[in-house]
Amino acid sequence: MVDANAGASRLLSSLPGRSGFGDASLIRHRAGSLDLGGGNPDPAVLPVALYRDAVEDLTGAADFAASLRYVPAPGIPALRSWLGEREGVDPTRVIITSGGAHGLALAVLGTLDDGDTIIVDDPVYPLFLRLLDLLEVRVVPVRVDGAGIDVDELATLLRSGLRPNALFTVPTFQNPSGATLSPGREAQLAELAERYGFTIIFDDPYRDLPFEPRTSANRSRLLDAERVVAVNSFSKTLGPALRLGWNVVPAHLAEQFIKLRNRLDGQTSGVLQEIALRIVRRPEYVDSLANAGAHYAKKAAVLGSALLTRFGNEVRLTEPQGGFFLWAQFMDRGTDFDRLHDLAQEEGVFYQRGEWFAAGTEQRFRGYLRLSFSELTSTQLEEAADRLHRAWEMRTPAPGSRLRSIRDATTPLSGLRGRASS
Ligand SMILES: Cc1ncc(COP(=O)(O)O)c(C=O)c1O
Repeated sequence: MVDANAGASRLLSSLPGRSGFGDASLIRHRAGSLDLGGGNPDPAVLPVALYRDAVEDLTGAADFAASLRYVPAPGIPALRSWLGEREGVDPTRVIITSGGAHGLALAVLGTLDDGDTIIVDDPVYPLFLRLLDLLEVRVVPVRVDGAGIDVDELATLLRSGLRPNALFTVPTFQNPSGATLSPGREAQLAELAERYGFTIIFDDPYRDLPFEPRTSANRSRLLDAERVVAVNSFSKTLGPALRLGWNVVPAHLAEQFIKLRNRLDGQTSGVLQEIALRIVRRPEYVDSLANAGAHYAKKAAVLGSALLTRFGNEVRLTEPQGGFFLWAQFMDRGTDFDRLHDLAQEEGVFYQRGEWFAAGTEQRFRGYLRLSFSELTSTQLEEAADRLHRAWEMRTPAPGSRLRSIRDATTPLSGLRGRASS
């Protein structure tokens, strides 16, 4: 028998398997299942006509073959310039990436070493924690509330002597909670990073999808912090299969990041960059973003009110101002939430469990569900809420819970509402 790790590096053989978020073995595929778990944009609002024009323009050009050459490691100059202008930074700080996950990997490899400490959102985008498996770093969670990462909690940790090397946050329409970092906290965070000398890694793929058009500039003030690596992606606006994104790195580290890039994948497809450039330069692109934001706003409202109608005050919902997710908290703490997830799948609906987003103790997010409204139609969202409610009505108490079987309780189910809300 071959040793399971024969030929593998220490890194390769030490990588843990997926558990929780993204673990395909936890998903039971059934015909007709409705998926509230995903992070895909709605195909109905992707700018397909702009894609067609862009591809036609590119491939129809006499010098199309020139686009098939290698391109510079940090990206094609015209796209870097466009992004530099959009972000209000010098284009030399912009590095085109093959999507957000790639940009996060560059950010982590470029700023952290074994033995370092990183502060992260709690709840957190779980794939960021997976990425940290590449290194041996200490992860310190900091609470995210309705106004983003709790900067007061962070300040307390720093005052008590914690010296992180970096901090990771999703500042706009956070995955999973939908929260957006307030301008006040942005400023405080930048100030703390400066004072205590840590790098802010911020990941902002939902920024272009507010439910209502912004009245202020579409730009994070965190970009002005000296030590910041901003990671962004076209996945939520132009589709994840494009595999295109960008990082903004500190000016003094730009050359070093490009050297790192040269030692990994070298560059992002020049053809895809040319296509994206032709799309984002069109005025209709701005319209398509506004249209998408309004479309997601409607779907968030449909799912939110479908849940509130069925669950009443048994559920508490966040009210995101953009992005793809509702973060729902089910109030009946005595419920067996492992079983609820199975029951929901038996009823034909999948969701992401709150525990899978915990950076600290999982217990904190027991009873939370991340529900994605981006991909399903309004009718499907209503149906998904029905299915979830059917599962909820069949729920059982958690092992060891002091509650009697919920199904056997003499109180009618509707009668649970008042009690759960107290
Ligand atoms: C917060 C966050 N960061 C990064 C990504 C990954 O983006 P990409 O598909 O561009 O790799 C996602 C996708 O769901 C995300 O939600």
